[in-house]
Amino acid sequence: DRGSAGWATAVAHPNIALIKYWGKRDEHLILPRVDSLSMTLDLFPTTTRVRLDHEAGHDEVTLNGRPAKGEKLRRVVAFLDLVRKRAGLTSKAVVASENTVPTGAGLASSASGFAALAVAAAAAHGLDLDATALSRLARRGSGSAARSLFGGFAVWHAGTDSGTAEQADLGSYAEPVAVGDIDPALVIAVVDAGPKTTPSRAAMRRTVETSPLYEPWAVSSGDDLAQMRAALRAGDFETVGEIAERNALGMHATMLAARPAVRYLSPATLTVLDRVLLLREDGVPAYATMDAGPNVKVLCRRADADRVAEAVREAAPAGSVLVASQGPGARLLPGSG
Ligand code: PMV
Repeated sequence: DRGSAGWATAVAHPNIALIKYWGKRDEHLILPRVDSLSMTLDLFPTTTRVRLDHEAGHDEVTLNGRPAKGEKLRRVVAFLDLVRKRAGLTSKAVVASENTVPTGAGLASSASGFAALAVAAAAAHGLDLDATALSRLARRGSGSAARSLFGGFAVWHAGTDSGTAEQADLGSYAEPVAVGDIDPALVIAVVDAGPKTTPSRAAMRRTVETSPLYEPWAVSSGDDLAQMRAALRAGDFETVGEIAERNALGMHATMLAARPAVRYLSPATLTVLDRVLLLREDGVPAYATMDAGPNVKVLCRRADADRVAEAVREAAPAGSVLVASQGPGARLLPGSG
């Protein structure tokens, strides 16, 4: 009986956007400027347990066995406050989250982290939410987490601002996308495992506020999404890859034109991008995408993944290379109660 629930454990996987989320129209509700589309990975799940503690005076949050502090703690507590308000409960919570991304892999864990937290916290508080409502809720933790509720490919709707704030919130959630037979892999080239130079929140804000390229990219990204969905449905792998690459490069162009510029791409990033072009010249369909960091994710067919991984390893010998396929959506583990 979820109504008298007290604890729950959930697992979620990271996702990588092929049509990027970049720019918010509401920072508090985390409403994006643009629709985005992603693939959930089969690597590096986050497992999160939430237990209500009627005695506790404050939330206790541990991430990989260590107490969370500062901004990380603040974001989790703010998220729990939201869940408590919805459930009409006041008890503090004990949250333990285990993230399997190797330390310094240069992959963000906020998407899998807040997706797992949304599912576990909702169940522990006795909230009976469907996948759409859980996606909306996860969005409030980290925008990209809205997409990790779903396995395979998911589209996150920006929604519209025609009504109240509550209506705007209702319109912005992710859902699964129909995909033809493309059998995709993502070869992840970790060229620099160091921490981010500029957090994505600050970088997004600066881009929207100062980049003359932001609006044109946002408009063209809408076209990219429509074309991407058609190509996915048709199983047209080359078109999917071309759109993903141009959408990501366009997003980075908006940042380069911000004042001052936000530049995540490093020399090693460009070396890998050159290698991806060579692969295409050799007849291997491979397409690059980059997020708020220098690492490159190369979309290719699973049958070509070993060859692509080898080429990328050669191009960035100081880094490490991982191969991911499509992974599952977020789910509650049995035994929660
Ligand atoms: O969810 P956030 O705030 O970490 O933003 C992620 C933004 C990108 O990773 C750069 C793009 C995306 O759509 O995931």
